[in-house]
Amino acid sequence: MNWRGLPDFIFSERDAEMKSTDDRSIYVVAICGSLRQGSSTHAALQIALSAAKAAGAEVELLELGEYDLVFQGSVASESDYPPGVFKLREKVKRAHGILLGSPEYHGSFSGVLKSALDLMGFDEFENKVIGLIGVSGGRMGAVNALSMLRTVGTALHAWVVPNDASIPNSSEAFDADGNLYDAELTARVKAVGEQVTKFAALRNSV
Ligand SMILES: Cc1cc2nc3c(=O)[nH]c(=O)nc-3n(C[C@H](O)[C@H](O)[C@H](O)COP(=O)(O)O)c2cc1C
Repeated sequence: MNWRGLPDFIFSERDAEMKSTDDRSIYVVAICGSLRQGSSTHAALQIALSAAKAAGAEVELLELGEYDLVFQGSVASESDYPPGVFKLREKVKRAHGILLGSPEYHGSFSGVLKSALDLMGFDEFENKVIGLIGVSGGRMGAVNALSMLRTVGTALHAWVVPNDASIPNSSEAFDADGNLYDAELTARVKAVGEQVTKFAALRNSV
């Protein structure tokens, strides 16, 4: 039990620290697991974030290329990490909702995203609401990336929203402006952003 009389798995002392100052504004970040220029994952996350914004969130897309992130195993001291690691941790720590986007790479999610996740932990993810979006070059969709990200989200004690979005045939799925051709798929991607925002707001209202 905590000071609100709620079980710790629903509301921990850490939640009190991250609670927004006006108790209403919701900050949603998207972490993009592709560093490629013209990335489909990036485009999909932008669509999800537009829905999060429409649902009332302050939003930001975090480009992992800007943070110096290769995980080199345990370091002698936390201060040995490059400053980018702390910058990323701060943003994710402050977020009420987190979107994770990844390409399907050899039947899993991308190494750069795994590296970023391994440089963070419960401080950034525990009890947070997270949503998942995957893209794949093939027609099967990013099923493995999504399934593995769901497992990782659970290991980080996050609340992973049940609906995720998988975009197959990525090279043909988007127009030059980053919009998906398929309206149903667009709605599904947007639903992930909207649900993360709404459930994060619900948690933040406790
Ligand atoms: C190393 C590597 C592995 C890949 N493995 C798969 C795969 O297992 N299944 C699949 O459908 N596509 C696979 N692809 C294709 C990517 O999922 C696809 O190109 C995707 O659009 C890349 O994401 P991005 O556009 O955000 O960079 C792979 C691509 C790369 C570079």
